[in-house]
Amino acid sequence: MKLLIKGGMVLDPAAGTAEKKDVLIVDGKIAAVDRGLSRSGARVLDAAGKLVAPGFIDMHAHLREPGYTHKETIVSGSRAAVRGGFTAVACMPNTDPVADCGAVVAHIKSEAAKAGLVRVYPIGAITRGSLGLELAEMADLKEHGAVAVSDDGRPVGSAALMRSAMQYARMLGLTVISHCEDESLSAGGAMNEGFMSTVLGLKGIPAAAEEVMVARDLILAGQTGCRLHLAHVSTAGSVRLIREAKARGVSVTAEAAPHHFTLTEEAVAGYDTNTKVNPPLRTSEDVAAVREGLADGTIDVIATDHAPHALEEKDVEYDRAPFGIAGLETAAGLVWSELVNSGVLTPLQAVARLTLNPARVLGIPGGTLETGADADLTIIDPELTWTVDASLFESKGKNTPFNGRLLKGVPVATIVGGRIVMSGGKI
Ligand code: DOR
Ligand code: ZN
Repeated sequence: MKLLIKGGMVLDPAAGTAEKKDVLIVDGKIAAVDRGLSRSGARVLDAAGKLVAPGFIDMHAHLREPGYTHKETIVSGSRAAVRGGFTAVACMPNTDPVADCGAVVAHIKSEAAKAGLVRVYPIGAITRGSLGLELAEMADLKEHGAVAVSDDGRPVGSAALMRSAMQYARMLGLTVISHCEDESLSAGGAMNEGFMSTVLGLKGIPAAAEEVMVARDLILAGQTGCRLHLAHVSTAGSVRLIREAKARGVSVTAEAAPHHFTLTEEAVAGYDTNTKVNPPLRTSEDVAAVREGLADGTIDVIATDHAPHALEEKDVEYDRAPFGIAGLETAAGLVWSELVNSGVLTPLQAVARLTLNPARVLGIPGGTLETGADADLTIIDPELTWTVDASLFESKGKNTPFNGRLLKGVPVATIVGGRIVMSGGKI
């Protein structure tokens, strides 16, 4: 099986190159990347005017299976992923049961293999049941294929427990992904604490709820030598703390979600529960800081925090709705519309934050187009303008604050292991 991707702008973050070239795929692997490759015997994909990148990797998605299949399944989440240009997804363990032991991790992997669309990398829980009381069996998690540990959705409240988690994770070579939230500050909150929360009469979640925990975990990571990754960074203070810690040599990486570099708390004004997310949408100063952090590399990764919920769960009063935004199918469009088209990131930088950087954080393959690598690729049309229509999402979760938004830039093909799994939006 030969596939030739002809005439696209090839973005290779591992090589640091952006050049008009062809990509030849043979038997699921990259066979050659060069100018004027011969089409003989190959199926040809015309990529003129398009960007050809290593497959996008979303290191933060909630696929909801097992347990919450009314919100999403591994099949529907896989379809949403490839529609969004992702060839690999790391899924968070806040399922039912929680992915806190090897058996659940193995189950997720086998269901994902059955779905057969996207590579799925399970993340194991830090604590049993993600209850924050005792450590999960990290060695068992790792043995069955967990690529990192996290209690995402909730914080590890005890600093002592987080410290021992980091000590074990370090021994096992696992990255700890921290959901930074001090619940004594955030409890009962529904949106960012500030002027808007006062105007709207909603209880606020202060920036400090995130920043206190970011500071704590940076101190613990520095002390234990554990590789720490900070999920969904949303405040200017967090960006500053991470920048300082990196300068001191702490082994830390961080991610930002599209909604946090796009929307401010002003979006909550209409009480649309699709704007309710944890951490909450913040101020314009925070959005600017997150963008600056992405531009200067303080924030290494763009991750969706894809958090699908059922319509009826979101169709309640704002303070009673669950937190979360379905993000897989709008992420790339928002990256191009908000960051690339406005010059915050070059196309190559954007691709690095969607491919090579998450691959490095998790220690998984990806982010390269070197000969012999698995042929996972995403082809983007940077000029195509489209309107977000949640009713057309592959995800079961239609909970997006971006419905009806005009975006410029869209993945037009997703290739996993040499197989075209999405083309022109069709799976
Ligand atoms: O908005 C969120 N939704 N934030 C989280 O941390 C968890 C997630 C979910 O699982 O719904
Ligand atoms: Zn989280």
